[in-house]
Amino acid sequence: MASKARTLFLVSLLIMAAVAVGPMAAEAQLGIISGLLGLINVHGTVFCTANGNMGANGTATPVFPNAGVQLQCGGTIISTTTTNAAGIFSILLDPLRFILTTLLNDCSVRVTTPLSTCNATLPSVGGLLSSPLQFVGDILVGLLRVTQLVPTGFNLLPSNSNNN
Ligand SMILES: *[C@@H]1O[C@H](CO)[C@@H](O)[C@H](O)[C@H]1NC(C)=O
Ligand SMILES: *[C@@H]1O[C@H](CO)[C@@H](O)[C@H](O)[C@H]1NC(C)=O
Repeated sequence: MASKARTLFLVSLLIMAAVAVGPMAAEAQLGIISGLLGLINVHGTVFCTANGNMGANGTATPVFPNAGVQLQCGGTIISTTTTNAAGIFSILLDPLRFILTTLLNDCSVRVTTPLSTCNATLPSVGGLLSSPLQFVGDILVGLLRVTQLVPTGFNLLPSNSNNN
């Protein structure tokens, strides 16, 4: 799957980066490599509904493809991406740069494309969706520990406000 391939690609990059760090005490290198054997994956699905969440029809609910998605922490945009044809987005973060509790307490996911883009009967203004994150577990991909964070749910915001 695309996200797995991307993850494996990132792992190779990380290992290459660790190897490229140059002459160093063996134990220091080990420390760096074990620190790098992890990633944080903020992912989820955006649905084409009035609140962006799954509707009564479960997985048959229409999704929101090609929607701009931002990860914001304390009002700062950390990363942006776009949902794929299945409405799925995924943002990979380096755990050496982001602390889990900070991500859970200060960060949210925003959909920047108006809902009217996927369904003309839905709002064309104030279409921003926001959601805090929750931890749903770790997945091992080879040696890599991938910490899974997902939105707890989306809300339709009345305006283009920029608070969390
Ligand atoms: C659920 O699916 C049925 C059958 O396709 C459809 O008639 C109904 O409108 C759907 N309900 C929602 C809330 O999407
Ligand atoms: C568009 O949204 C309206 C209102 O939520 C809904 O009734 C309709 O079924 C949606 N159309 C499609 C193609 O999903």
